[in-house]
Amino acid sequence: MTIRYDGKVAIVTGAGQGLGRSHAIELAKRGAKVVVNDLGGAKDGTGASSAAALSVVAEIEAAGGEAIANGANVANYDEVQAMVKQALDTWGRVDILVNNAGILRDKSFAKGSLDDFKLVLDVHLMGTINCTKACWEVMREQEYGRIVVTSSSSGLYGNFGQTNYGAAKMGVIGAMNTLVQEGAKYNIRVNALAPTAGTRMTEGLLPDKAFELLTPETVTPAVLYLVSEDAPNRTILCAGAGGFSVAKIVETDSVWLSPEEQTPEGIAAHWSQINNDDTLRELKGGFEQSLKMLTVAAEGLGIKLD
Ligand code: NAI
Repeated sequence: MTIRYDGKVAIVTGAGQGLGRSHAIELAKRGAKVVVNDLGGAKDGTGASSAAALSVVAEIEAAGGEAIANGANVANYDEVQAMVKQALDTWGRVDILVNNAGILRDKSFAKGSLDDFKLVLDVHLMGTINCTKACWEVMREQEYGRIVVTSSSSGLYGNFGQTNYGAAKMGVIGAMNTLVQEGAKYNIRVNALAPTAGTRMTEGLLPDKAFELLTPETVTPAVLYLVSEDAPNRTILCAGAGGFSVAKIVETDSVWLSPEEQTPEGIAAHWSQINNDDTLRELKGGFEQSLKMLTVAAEGLGIKLD
């Protein structure tokens, strides 16, 4: 069955080029009405221009789709609120939000400035929060919402020179984990994308052949799946060059140590048991961890928990 988005209104941030452009075009091709947001600045976040967003809107319209351009800076909440109002005034709802806009200020931690760090957090993390916050009430009232946050392998696993970016990209996963809990009652699902693609962001970092394989269009199906009616929830979907995988945050079983062994030496003595990959599993919420610790403690102490 073809997955379509007829009657759905989507906002895609940073959609003037690269991954966002590809997501916006495919959503429109499959029936969504799309707000093509882009600040239109340089890779490092300096400058602004409406040209990129307007040209993607023209592309969508030429293919028979519906789209409007928006130049909000996602780091500016007032502008983001105006963007959501523009969508509501034009089409009356917002069903899909793809938080994609981003910049880079790569520098080793030793050499990078705190101002750059804050700017990267502002665009990626606060940008995602601003857009999600501005849509949240609308989606709650509609009892429908599909949100994607864009993470990165740099956040999940680290990448030299990207402390700022990695922190922001892991931050959006933290936001997702709680948003899914608060949105569940309202049929709002939140998922994360961890893409790898040949765009201006990765230009010069990849050999030509790899760049050609890693087209944004090979990533877009992942986003479209994550914002479909039957989307999963709380999933980190990784995509690039036609490959797809799921990343998970897992934890080993809790190993209870007797009061005498609750020391750094005790932990060292039991390290292989505590750090045992064979017991890794996913937790569905923060409280599960407390419960896990308490369960083995109660067992160890021979007491009953109410
Ligand atoms: P890109 O640089 O081609 O596109 C990003 C777009 O966001 C640009 O059009 C830019 O004007 C816009 N933008 C930047 N700051 C903005 C702001 N404050 N408000 C509104 N728009 C703004 O980059 P690309 O590669 O398409 O990246 C898209 C997303 O995917 C980003 O969040 C990026 O961090 C993420 N990502 C990309 C990877 C890749 O391999 N290309 C890897 C992992 C994550």
